[in-house]
Amino acid sequence: MRNYLIEDLPHYFEEYKKSIKNPKKFWDKIADQNFVWYQRWSKVVKYDMNEAKITWFKNAKLNITKNCIDRHLAVRGEKTAIIWEPNDPKEEAQHISYNELYNRVNKTANVLREMGIEKGDRVCIYLPMIPELAVTMLACAKLGAVHSVIFAGFSASAVASRVNDCGAKMVITSDGSYRGNKVLDLKSIVDEALEKTPTVESVLVVKRTHNEIKMKEGRDHWLAELYEKASADFVTVIMDAEDPLFILYTSGSTGKPKGMLHTSAGYMVYTAYTFKNVFNYKENDIYWCTADIGWITGHSYILYGPLLNGATTVIFEGVPTYPEPDRFWEVIEKHKITQFYTAPTAIRSLAKESSEWVDKHDLSTLKVIGSVGEPINEEAWHWFNDHVGKKKCPVVDTWWQTETGGIMISPLPFVTPTKPTYATLPLPGIQPVLMDDKRNEITGNQVTGNLCIRFPWPGIARTIWGDHQRYKETYFSAFPGKYFTGDGALRDEVGYYRITGRVDDVIIVSGHNLGTAPIEDSINEHPAVAESAIVGYPHDIKGNALYGFVILKETGEGRDKENLKKEINQLIADQIGPIAKLDKIQFVSGLPKTRSGKIMRRILRKIAEGDFSNFGDISTLLNPEIVEEIKNERI
Ligand code: WT7
Repeated sequence: MRNYLIEDLPHYFEEYKKSIKNPKKFWDKIADQNFVWYQRWSKVVKYDMNEAKITWFKNAKLNITKNCIDRHLAVRGEKTAIIWEPNDPKEEAQHISYNELYNRVNKTANVLREMGIEKGDRVCIYLPMIPELAVTMLACAKLGAVHSVIFAGFSASAVASRVNDCGAKMVITSDGSYRGNKVLDLKSIVDEALEKTPTVESVLVVKRTHNEIKMKEGRDHWLAELYEKASADFVTVIMDAEDPLFILYTSGSTGKPKGMLHTSAGYMVYTAYTFKNVFNYKENDIYWCTADIGWITGHSYILYGPLLNGATTVIFEGVPTYPEPDRFWEVIEKHKITQFYTAPTAIRSLAKESSEWVDKHDLSTLKVIGSVGEPINEEAWHWFNDHVGKKKCPVVDTWWQTETGGIMISPLPFVTPTKPTYATLPLPGIQPVLMDDKRNEITGNQVTGNLCIRFPWPGIARTIWGDHQRYKETYFSAFPGKYFTGDGALRDEVGYYRITGRVDDVIIVSGHNLGTAPIEDSINEHPAVAESAIVGYPHDIKGNALYGFVILKETGEGRDKENLKKEINQLIADQIGPIAKLDKIQFVSGLPKTRSGKIMRRILRKIAEGDFSNFGDISTLLNPEIVEEIKNERI
């Protein structure tokens, strides 16, 4: 592998300039020099930003697992690919070498094939953070099946809707999962979900907690039993550059979750390149990203990006505060972590604890520390920099999205001078533009606007599974010819970007991207509820928390309000997951609506924040008197 590491600031500017002037040449060289291909591409990039049709490395043949595993065997076969750190520190960590990973993936791919999985089939994976999660994803990729990982905190109905949306033929789960001192029964959630999923033919079950579970005759199989018998030889399936690699669901501002589709070649090239540069990865580093693999961060920067670079990557099963609030720091010390990548919400919750928890651990191996998922506030940035990085590790505040596949705007460590709360500069190949609401580009510096991207990059999602029209409308129609991110951003006097937050109806709670519509839909299903609206409000730890305004039906008026609140939250937990529960629920007699019937969320947001100073223009409201009522009864 050639070295595509950017060394210093002039080098960054040089690479950046090249990447904008001639993107084809730029990515052609990176793809050519750093990966193994069965066949070269006939065209680097082809795109139509109006129709949202994008291809990269057209007609190339490859398999990402050859690049993640096989090609490393000759040079680093005995090197640890994955360190698995269990929930309970008393349980022994596993060190899985590249050789061992190769074996496990081959055997698992054979199991999948024996169960009837073929190239193009969808497989949903609903597993905790255990090695089998990584292995089954890679086995899918090796066989050409499309994995769709569902975060193992989602409810049965959320699982069912995802399984049905992608028409999965198989679900992979476990008998349970450990999270801190809790044991969760994943299998019964899957059983409930699968009552309504006609396409699923088989379920593979990993043994983890040894919970008593029900196995459905003919449908459910213990993975370990099949694995024992499986051959360790597997002939890799050859994939086309644009063959689907995985589907990952993300919330939208309206309707059901969007199955973002990522394809093989572009995703591979982009995650590998960005991993290397954003984390300044060097051969003997030990890299740890604390995200769950159920989110894009885990796909790109626990699994694919690190393995593509032959790195050692940590998979952590537990939570930051178990058994004590120093678990992260203990793991860093224990495994001599060099790069540590986490989320603002985790940083804020740990900063709340006494700093002795951090200070008593030796974190001197750290070189780079990173943050992702939501804007990082100044206080959290400094705490992270002072206590974890000891002011000597660059903080990489990385901005990106499920849709972008990889990191888009971020400092490069030892290259880009950092600035608290700023994601700073775009990576090579990325052309951010700020647009005003009238669709004009805002030029110059010290400006704010809607963040768009001008030109495709290899990691961009290609479509929403089964709904290209929605893909086009959501990302390519607000600002024709450009990809619209849904975020607002500020560009400072030197051209650094700071992401200011969502400008649409998506709320980020503890780093989880939640759409208002699906939550409101769940609330409205309660028999006593007539209508509802939810907004986010600032929360010390979670970044944002959810505030619900609920109109009751007449039948609900006489009910005990505290019970109703509990029932509403239970409904949300059942349908979406506990992460989407509301912190505050206020019963109201009406919602502020425009003449066209649109809820004026801006006003609700202000009320939820407790800022009554300036509601802006409310002259278009049909029922301005309601604002006073809601304000006076604010919780
Ligand atoms: C949204 C995407 C991509 C990883 C995890 C989230 C917000 C993400 C940052 C950051 C400010 C950020 C944006 C974005 N976001 N990283 N460094 N600074 N905001 O993926 O669930 O697809 O959410 O997360 O609002 O649009 P996601």
